[in-house]
Amino acid sequence: MSLKIASAAVLSAALGLSAADFDASKLPPVSTKQGVTYEKDIKPLFERSCFKCHGPEKQKAKLRLDSLEATLKGGADGAGFEKGASAKSTFVASVARLMSEDENMPPEGKGQAFSKEEVGLLRAWIDQGTK
Ligand code: HEC
Repeated sequence: MSLKIASAAVLSAALGLSAADFDASKLPPVSTKQGVTYEKDIKPLFERSCFKCHGPEKQKAKLRLDSLEATLKGGADGAGFEKGASAKSTFVASVARLMSEDENMPPEGKGQAFSKEEVGLLRAWIDQGTK
């Protein structure tokens, strides 16, 4: 188990990727809210904290978060999450501020960070199938 993780990390480093390079035990718990959707629950959070750089005006790293379709498509490095697997998601880790300084989102001092509850809601959205 640990050997597998170690070799994945080595491979990621060799490829210059940052996949799963965070401590998942530090993630806030998944929200227990049912029926979480992009339109109702997630879009307002992205609008508040992310649209400035990933919306109609600017698309940093080719990423837009202002529609469900664009969010699922992702940016230069893909979506950063897989349905049902929020604990492995680099997207979640970056809003939970568990990635490196330049990968945490929004960048330090450049917008309102997600609260633990909001990270939990994002996790629930992913685990419930990104509707
Ligand atoms: C002030 C501008 C700014 C804000 C606000 C911002 N980002 Fe970013 N984001 C960036 C920049 C710049 C990059 C590219 C970083 C790099 O390439 O090192 C980036 C990259 C990303 C990536 C990686 C995309 C890829 O495919 O490489 C994700 C995911 C991301 N941001 C998500 C978010 C989320 C979610 C929010 C809101 C919680 C957010 N960002 C808010 C500037 C911003």
